[in-house]
Amino acid sequence: MNEMEFAPRCVGLSSGKPTDPCCIVVFGAAGDLSRRELIPALYDLACQSLLPEPFTIVGFSRDNWDDQAFRERMRRAVSEERTFDAQHWERFAPHLHYVTGNFDAPPEGDYALLRDKLQSLQKRHGIPDNVLFHLATPPDFFCGIVNRLDAAGLATSDHGWRRLVIEKPFGTDERSARDLDRKILEVFKEDQTYRIDHFLGKETVQNLLVVRFANPSFEPIWNRNYIDHVQITVAEDIGIGTRAGFYEKTGVVRDMVQNHLLQLLCMTAIEPPVRYDGAGLRDETAKVMQAIRPLDVRKDAVRGQYGPGHMDGKAVPGYRAEKNVVPESNTATYAALRVMIDNWRWAGVPFYLRTGKRLARKVTEVAIHFKPTPHLMFPIEQDSSSGNVLAFRLQPEEGIMQTFVAKQPGPGLCLEPVTMNFRYASAFGIEQLPNAYSWLLHDAMGGDQTLFARADWIYRAWQIVEPVIAHWTSEVAPDFPNYTAGSWGPLAADGLLRADKRAWKSL
Ligand code: BG6
Repeated sequence: MNEMEFAPRCVGLSSGKPTDPCCIVVFGAAGDLSRRELIPALYDLACQSLLPEPFTIVGFSRDNWDDQAFRERMRRAVSEERTFDAQHWERFAPHLHYVTGNFDAPPEGDYALLRDKLQSLQKRHGIPDNVLFHLATPPDFFCGIVNRLDAAGLATSDHGWRRLVIEKPFGTDERSARDLDRKILEVFKEDQTYRIDHFLGKETVQNLLVVRFANPSFEPIWNRNYIDHVQITVAEDIGIGTRAGFYEKTGVVRDMVQNHLLQLLCMTAIEPPVRYDGAGLRDETAKVMQAIRPLDVRKDAVRGQYGPGHMDGKAVPGYRAEKNVVPESNTATYAALRVMIDNWRWAGVPFYLRTGKRLARKVTEVAIHFKPTPHLMFPIEQDSSSGNVLAFRLQPEEGIMQTFVAKQPGPGLCLEPVTMNFRYASAFGIEQLPNAYSWLLHDAMGGDQTLFARADWIYRAWQIVEPVIAHWTSEVAPDFPNYTAGSWGPLAADGLLRADKRAWKSL
């Protein structure tokens, strides 16, 4: 069975049925995100017959292309990102169209061209007036695009629906996020607004919920009585590539912690929702966020910035030597946090979060560290490394590993930690899991907001991280760069756990 034949969600979270016929307009269609994620994700859906019929995609970007040039570029992009199937592509490509336009053009200019193109495609292919706008542009353009869509008469329809998908980061702090929302809500309603965090579209992240709530064995021990602490790691081996302009302004907390890491924490910590739907899941994640204790930045947070080092035997520059980064940059590329959740389930259980660029390798993992046994009858010392750990390997080598102690065969009593290993690849016979964006776009086309962040979640996420951002911006880090590219981060991050008599799990 190859990846395209894998029947998605066969016993899963949605029906996998094609959604309403519609047009998707991708703003920033010539950009990195569109090339690397969005168009390949839509191609994947097409390969699995999960796109609605009729259907069309209109790219809108500054690059001076026509439909043909857009298709040619996207063909190259898809063949770089996916196992390419020429026949599938030939069927998919005619759905792709393009409008050259400036995001900040007057509504009666490029946006009118977009409107005309949509109308003519709808007429030609008999597509009802349902349009999903996906803003894959730098965040500075979000408001302007929404206003121009409104002014050009594109934001409403008497016969169909309009939906807006917005990429992260949603604002740069709580105030700007509220401001952005206010402006969006003048045009689109909350139930038309899809704030996307692609981590929630990952199979393995959704599986956290399934493992917890579809198996009776985990939930009874999923609390402070049995769990000592939780470690959430999103380690990346890549640097910032060509994204210095974005990253210098954003930094690791806005780029990764405010969204992806807090979402992983929520998926690990939530109470069972009554129903798996938008209201149920989002109400419960909001409660987790409310229970997070304000961070004491000096005690609970460690920052880092990578210096030069070696990755795969090749020398790589430090952050400050990356193109378009200022030589004295104070931007953090690594963060480790101790987060406490003040509720009945989690009182006293620290959640340690860490993420960084240019770490030893790419690993995303949620590891549940259980408490030691209350009484060990064997005549040996029980150290923290002998504890049970349940590790959800979210990527790569996706799976779940349970570590426990077993008797080493032989005379005498020698206890050894061993691992039971569930791997997606062998259990489901697929090497590459479906793309996170595929599911999220599919859900957005189907009007399902379950896996999209609600406004209150976003505001609270900013409240949680703002003290860290404020402190790290106002106080220059005297020791930057403080970790070598290719290492596991700054020494101070080890100190964060050592202070609690714990250590980071090796990955
Ligand atoms: C993005 C961040 O949201 O997530 C990137 O902007 C990061 O900096 C990426 O590299 C990580 O996503 P994934 O799916 O590769 O873990």
